[in-house]
Amino acid sequence: MNTRSFLTSFIASFFVVPFIGCSDAPKKIPYPETDLSQAALIPKPLKVVATHSAFGLDSKTAIYTAQAANGFEKVGQFLSNKIQTQLSLNIPVNESPLEAVERIIYINQTEALESDAPEAYQLHIKNDSVLLNARTAAGAFRGIQTLRQLIPEQSNDTLAEQPMWLIPSGKIDDAPNFGYRGAMLDVARHFFTVEEVKKYIDLLAYYKYNAFHMHLTDDQGWRIEIKSWPKLTEIGAQSEVGGGPGGFYTQEEFKELVAYAAKRHIQVIPEIDMPGHTNAANLSYPIFHAKGKAETPRVRTDMKVGYSSFDAYKDTVYVFVDDVVREITAISPSPYFHIGGDESHATPKKDYIHFVEKVEKIVQKHGKKAIGWNEIAQANISQTTVGQFWNEPESALKMVEKGNQIILSPAKKIYLDMKYDTLSKHGLHWAAYIPVDDAYNWDPETYVEGLPKEQILGIEAPLWSETISNSAELEYLAFPRAIGYAELGWTPADQRNWEEYKIRLKGQVPYLNRNDVNFYRTELVDWEN
Ligand code: ACM
Repeated sequence: MNTRSFLTSFIASFFVVPFIGCSDAPKKIPYPETDLSQAALIPKPLKVVATHSAFGLDSKTAIYTAQAANGFEKVGQFLSNKIQTQLSLNIPVNESPLEAVERIIYINQTEALESDAPEAYQLHIKNDSVLLNARTAAGAFRGIQTLRQLIPEQSNDTLAEQPMWLIPSGKIDDAPNFGYRGAMLDVARHFFTVEEVKKYIDLLAYYKYNAFHMHLTDDQGWRIEIKSWPKLTEIGAQSEVGGGPGGFYTQEEFKELVAYAAKRHIQVIPEIDMPGHTNAANLSYPIFHAKGKAETPRVRTDMKVGYSSFDAYKDTVYVFVDDVVREITAISPSPYFHIGGDESHATPKKDYIHFVEKVEKIVQKHGKKAIGWNEIAQANISQTTVGQFWNEPESALKMVEKGNQIILSPAKKIYLDMKYDTLSKHGLHWAAYIPVDDAYNWDPETYVEGLPKEQILGIEAPLWSETISNSAELEYLAFPRAIGYAELGWTPADQRNWEEYKIRLKGQVPYLNRNDVNFYRTELVDWEN
């Protein structure tokens, strides 16, 4: 018998006749009663059926996965690493069965799921096995986040010879309501290091986000190395809001972030914001600067908007944009490239339209679909371009009439940089104060009347960084609201309820504390009891 078929029959033994693969007779473990339906899972899964017993995660557990080639083994390895970090348990992945293995987690590839969404998954949790069924590695990855959320903080040290972390038993069938569940970080107003960005991505992955949009350029700083235009980083990257040193990602560092996110089944969407918000680029190469209404480029450390513009009728500008898109798409596997397009108040309307239409074609030439902020609705954009609604519902409606897809990021509801209330330590409030319950209590499907669900690609929570410059400040604004947005993106409206959600939110505290997350302890949640 070769290793693979031995493994198959060994695994089958767990699902057909428990323990025939092991030499010793199983010890009957008196598991306490549990209730999977009461677990603090966020986002809330579609269907949960509790069977009131437990799976004992312990040193005699092993992970097995579907074949390595399609990414399932990497998902198993990710789970094993997270268990190692959290519990100091070494759970082997796809190693030949050992006498010592008494319980298994099997991550299986199958088409037999209730939902046809690529990220759908199903978990069967029994005494001796956890079976995770998924169609894709992304689905398996979402499933292991659910499993991680079920691991208790404390082990039970009396049930068996070794500590056991009791995972409530039952069955979960789950799939996302929206295919796109994003967060955006503005690394231009303040620069965030690779390690800070990775920490945020890892937290988002735990809540099943699948898109991370990086706002890489703005008036105050240019943050990505472009080899053919070196002054962008020699000059344009050396400033930020408030007068700090700024910074930028080398292409190698950007690739590192993309790979880190990809391991978490999160795509990174790069944004080069233009033709407005381009002071840093214009300062680096003054030839791009549109005269007219636009202010002369200089180092900007203030928070004003709407004063800079590229010259939409200069060939050099399009040579430059082509180079930037070419260099970034070479290191960016996402199908999307974000062209910005917001608040170009210093660009005449005719020039703006001309610019957006030309840049959209450049992005398409390099094999990507464009995303733009809702102002791009003024231009004659093609149907594959995605609009990101932030402040003009009429622009979103205009785009859906033409057949375009929309990402919903209404500033009044989902801008993570809006203060919670007047006492907030960081943030702005030009769109609204967004307390944690208001952040949760709205429905993306009905927020803009007349937007058909089929044309809503999903939702995204932007975090602009005028008032924040490190992980602690980022986390103060993002958490806990980003956790609620995860649920708005995943769980249908008829299954969401603030009163019930806030109890599950409180259940996140051990995870947030373990990961040193500086979340805002709103009085709307009873964190202590
Ligand atoms: C934006 O908030 N200017 C998209």
